[in-house]
Amino acid sequence: MLGTKSVEWILAPMDGVTDYPYRNAWVETFGAYSTMRLAVSPFVSLVPGGRIRLSHLRDLFPENNRMSVEPQFLGNEAGYFLPMAEALHALGYSSIDWNLGCPVRHVARKQRGSGLLPYPDRIRSFLESVLPSSPLALSVKLRLGYASGEEIYPVLDVLNSFPLSYVAIHPRTGIQLYGGRADWDAFEALLPRLRHRCVYSGDIDSVAKAEAFCGRFPRIGAIMLGRGVISNPFLPCSLSGFDFGKEEARSLFAAFVQALLFHYQSAGLRGDALLRRQKLFWGQFRGEYVPEGAFGLVKRLDNVEGYVRLCRQWFGQSWAGGWREQE
Ligand SMILES: Cc1cc2nc3c(=O)[nH]c(=O)nc-3n(C[C@H](O)[C@H](O)[C@H](O)COP(=O)(O)O)c2cc1C
Repeated sequence: MLGTKSVEWILAPMDGVTDYPYRNAWVETFGAYSTMRLAVSPFVSLVPGGRIRLSHLRDLFPENNRMSVEPQFLGNEAGYFLPMAEALHALGYSSIDWNLGCPVRHVARKQRGSGLLPYPDRIRSFLESVLPSSPLALSVKLRLGYASGEEIYPVLDVLNSFPLSYVAIHPRTGIQLYGGRADWDAFEALLPRLRHRCVYSGDIDSVAKAEAFCGRFPRIGAIMLGRGVISNPFLPCSLSGFDFGKEEARSLFAAFVQALLFHYQSAGLRGDALLRRQKLFWGQFRGEYVPEGAFGLVKRLDNVEGYVRLCRQWFGQSWAGGWREQE
């Protein structure tokens, strides 16, 4: 049986959250204490070839990325795929992931993301068109269906007939959004139908949950971690067998908070936008290493200088030594 130490941990794509400054801050602080080496990027939407601007791909520029990353795209237009795949190939990528899970209503209504799952024939014709000429290997990340968990079965039959690098499954339906629980019974039932390497995604937010999952699904060798890492950035370390004392955890957390500020500032965020980003993470952080009442204080701040002052109170005067005042 694969224990949590031998599973491959992958940072899940989270649009607006796990972008390159986050990934860099995470890997710089925790990379040495974890086997999590790969992230799937938040999706990039397919656009007509002539409209691909390098700025669309900024999250994926190799020079911006300190963590290995597999790009992900969202869309259903086969004709738009090749220019995007070629642009990413030119940046050095060798594989790409297709987002068939996005549950957002206006996306799904256009038969994108999980909204394409009720249309297995459209999925087949997309794959038939793009795979023969794609310079990139393809993986697929999907939900159980859009409106019903039965929708995945014909989709898996389609996916089985193409050469894919893996299929990642988040066992919820689209209309469920993030409500309820990831459905392990549904996941178990569909596994025999899937011929590809399977990656799991959904609700692994503690060592106990990971152990329960690995105990029940000993043959799943790779698991994505999403919200669990955002709220507890130490999770991939604990899952890789690294534990820290209270003081060490607190100083690593301070270093992480500092790295988040630094990397978002280096990415060009300033003022409100920079502060909003830090607030987003403080709203999620949970754990003993988080100063008591921290989010209540951070959320009331209205400038970054106040944020730096607060963090210095918590973490010591040397915190954010490299902080640059706004230009
Ligand atoms: C804010 C947010 C943004 C997300 N963005 C993406 C995305 O761009 N692509 C994708 O495939 N999944 C996306 N997801 C889904 C996650 O990758 C993951 O499958 C889901 O959150 C369940 O895993 P978790 O419980 O470990 O977070 C997103 C989830 C959240 C909460």
